[in-house]
Amino acid sequence: MGRASSTEATVELTADEIEHFRSEGYLSVSQVTTSEDVAQLREIYDRLFDQRAGRELGLQFDLAGTDEEGSEAVLPQILEPQRFAPELNDSLLLVNATAIAKQLFGPDATCSFFHAINKPPRIGAETPWHQDASYWPPHLDYRSASIWVPLQEATVKNGCMQFVPKSHRREEVLPHRSLNDDNRIHANELRPEMMDHVRGAVACPLPPGGATFHGGYTLHYTGPNLSDAPRRAIILAASAPPIRRMVPRALPWMDAKLTQRAKRVEAAKGRGPKTS
Ligand code: NI
Repeated sequence: MGRASSTEATVELTADEIEHFRSEGYLSVSQVTTSEDVAQLREIYDRLFDQRAGRELGLQFDLAGTDEEGSEAVLPQILEPQRFAPELNDSLLLVNATAIAKQLFGPDATCSFFHAINKPPRIGAETPWHQDASYWPPHLDYRSASIWVPLQEATVKNGCMQFVPKSHRREEVLPHRSLNDDNRIHANELRPEMMDHVRGAVACPLPPGGATFHGGYTLHYTGPNLSDAPRRAIILAASAPPIRRMVPRALPWMDAKLTQRAKRVEAAKGRGPKTS
């Protein structure tokens, strides 16, 4: 990519777009980087998944399966992909996402690559309805946006993002559980008796290099990949410093998790370079 970190942003949100994000809890924008940048990001992305980057550190795992060694991942995910491909930090996408983060959350907001989620053709699983804060440390309140960027067209058929408008307004985490009530699985899903909250969902198809934005309390979902090509998405995290809560939330589904990924994180700690 070879862009200097001083590269200037080439996109910004309009006042209407910022207002939409605040009032609806999500936003869809047709372009946040160039097709040239997308092509380079795709090359890096495919390389990292081919190499199983981060697997031993517990940073690559199957989000929607039990993640046993040797089983085919139905929703492979890499956390902090920039650790394995530092050139991601030179991307125009990061420059633009950082500028947008400051528009949304003020001058002390920061932005970084967060994770990459791949839905393999035909077998790529759905990501069930959830709020991102159902995963996050329970002693903080969040002012954040996840910036979800497809590296090819994203459609309902291959698993574009879907949101429940205004679901962020309660600023609380609804009861979740591990997917299929199986605490070996990393993914969280809204508990079945909470599905009344999923009403009036909006699907957001996008061209490559477009983006959706959603807050940590916004309910969202992606369908399975029913197409014949991979559905690649890379996600950045934009946020202002979180605020410490007086009383931490109870997230019993996180306390109960027993994933293969967590075991690999523990094993890697004993072996040397720290993973966090
Ligand atoms: Ni999510």
